[in-house]
Amino acid sequence: MSANKTSTESKVAVITGSAAGLGNGIAKRLAEDGFKIVLHDIDEDNLKQAEQTLKDTGFEVTAVVGDVANRDDQFNLVKQAVDKFGRIDVFVNNAGVESVAPFLEIEEQEVDKLFNINVKGVIFGTQAAAEQMKQQEGVGKIINACSIAGHESYEMLSLYCATKFAVRSFTYATAKELAEYDIRVNAYCPGVADTPMWERIDQAFVDHKGYAPKQAWNEFTGGILVGRPQQPEDVANLVSFLASKDANYITGQTILTDGGMVFR
Ligand SMILES: NC(=O)c1ccc[n+]([C@@H]2O[C@H](COP(=O)([O-])OP(=O)(O)OC[C@H]3O[C@@H](n4cnc5c(N)ncnc54)[C@H](O)[C@@H]3O)[C@@H](O)[C@H]2O)c1
Repeated sequence: MSANKTSTESKVAVITGSAAGLGNGIAKRLAEDGFKIVLHDIDEDNLKQAEQTLKDTGFEVTAVVGDVANRDDQFNLVKQAVDKFGRIDVFVNNAGVESVAPFLEIEEQEVDKLFNINVKGVIFGTQAAAEQMKQQEGVGKIINACSIAGHESYEMLSLYCATKFAVRSFTYATAKELAEYDIRVNAYCPGVADTPMWERIDQAFVDHKGYAPKQAWNEFTGGILVGRPQQPEDVANLVSFLASKDANYITGQTILTDGGMVFR
């Protein structure tokens, strides 16, 4: 159990896209930190499994199915969380999807999908969380999934990068607007993390560029200064800090956690 337990004992954290990957790692870590956890995902089967796993470990957890791109779903998520646990202290806008293709081949449908989930998802999640946090005592934390792709632009990832640059900008502006309500808004910017998303990215390089399996993964992770790819726990460490009271003086920051890839 982390040292944060006492200070966050009665606090509640909502994590979107938390049935798998980084979101699931973040949910586990915040549970260990003492938060009551609201899991959320569009994948109902994985979500149920993730809920059971946390319950079996003895954590207080509930799960809500929804699509972050749907504004009503996001407000429903907040309502369900408050009905169950009474308040929301931390809302992590984690859910996101990738797109890997040469820019000239990207179709309108794909543009809409990426912006709907990665950008509208963060906007609607922030609106829903902020409406609730404004009515509460204490400091609220909204924490967004950005990326190295929100600071640097990569070939084959043009659309994904555009959405993450948007998340970075939105994080700054909402930190300014929500400061008067004691709501902090920050973002975590992972590098190349070992999750289902990167399995799909690797496969897309095989499909579009004739790469061998794992070639893209090896190229992207090869130069990481700390000498290994990122694990969900590495990302969860930063989110845990941003969610804690030790980070109460931090707002409007988009912090890189990439083992040494992008330097800002
Ligand atoms: N994996 C990486 O290397 C990496 C690097 C930088 C940033 N990120 C960002 O971190 C976040 C999580 O990435 P990940 O690697 O864990 O992805 P993932 O694909 O491994 O897991 C994402 C989870 O979100 C869920 N999800 C997808 N669309 C959803 C929607 N519309 N509504 C609700 N849930 C939805 C999926 O079902 C899945 O459980 C994303 O925003 C991603 O862009 C990931």
